[in-house]
Amino acid sequence: MSYELILVETRGRVGLITLNRPKALNALNDNLVDEIGKALDGFESDEGIGAIVITGSEKAFAAGADIGAMATFSYMDAYKGDYITRNWERVKTCRKPVIAAVAGFALGGGCELAMMCDIIIAADTAKFGQPEVKLGILPGAGGTQRLPRAVGKAKAMDMCLTARFMDATEAERAGLVSRVVPADKLLEETLAAAETIAGYSLPVVMMIKESVNRAFESSLNEGLLFERRVFHSAFALNDQKEGMAAFVEKRKPDFKHD
Ligand code: CAA
Repeated sequence: MSYELILVETRGRVGLITLNRPKALNALNDNLVDEIGKALDGFESDEGIGAIVITGSEKAFAAGADIGAMATFSYMDAYKGDYITRNWERVKTCRKPVIAAVAGFALGGGCELAMMCDIIIAADTAKFGQPEVKLGILPGAGGTQRLPRAVGKAKAMDMCLTARFMDATEAERAGLVSRVVPADKLLEETLAAAETIAGYSLPVVMMIKESVNRAFESSLNEGLLFERRVFHSAFALNDQKEGMAAFVEKRKPDFKHD
């Protein structure tokens, strides 16, 4: 598979996708998002991959959906073409954990792409924003839904209505990102986190991802019931036997991902 707008590599058990449209600050056009989807398909079907990292450049994770491509859209182009849903949702449906490593601008669709990932690790240079209001549109890839869930209504309204950017420190304080690291350590630290995750039992990691996501889709009782059922099913795994035997025998577990 060859790619024009992203770079796709494997680092140990981690799949790495680097958005690579530097002249347009990684603006997300249809082809680029299609390529992300194809790369995710490849990593999902590869048993040797346990976690995925999506990153951009030093200056921009992604400065949003491609404004030039959207500028002449009619309602019918957007509606019939199922704009956004058609290919962006692929990130959400990925069952393996996906970490966004964000440096520089993560604006509009760039912020929304990061929020579709399971964890955001930010460089101290990161700037998050939903500035669509300045263009006469609104966020269309989850900004009005995922941002309030991450940072609460007040900050989400502030960002979507005033278009102000949030820096990395504020983003961490507000709960949008899990860690802030020096810019020159962003990839190293993110790959290390991804490698840690990929070293655990893949089915367990997938169960954890599914269960945490359930917290956003259900009542507390239903979520707890879902978790309990999945927890019970973990006892069917060889990796559960190995993980607990290794603890008892005071050695490192050797997970076989089954
Ligand atoms: N789409 C298309 N091209 C973009 C772009 C975008 N979202 N963002 C930046 N670019 C292009 C610029 O047009 C420019 O191209 P040229 O050199 O050919 O002119 C190049 O990237 C560099 O950008 P700037 O010269 O503007 O760089 P800067 O450092 O002065 O400013 C910036 C950086 C503040 C990020 C500014 O580029 C900017 O405001 N970009 C737009 C951000 C935005 O509004 N994003 C939301 C898009 S709509 C959306 O995402 C909808 C949705 O919910 C899915």
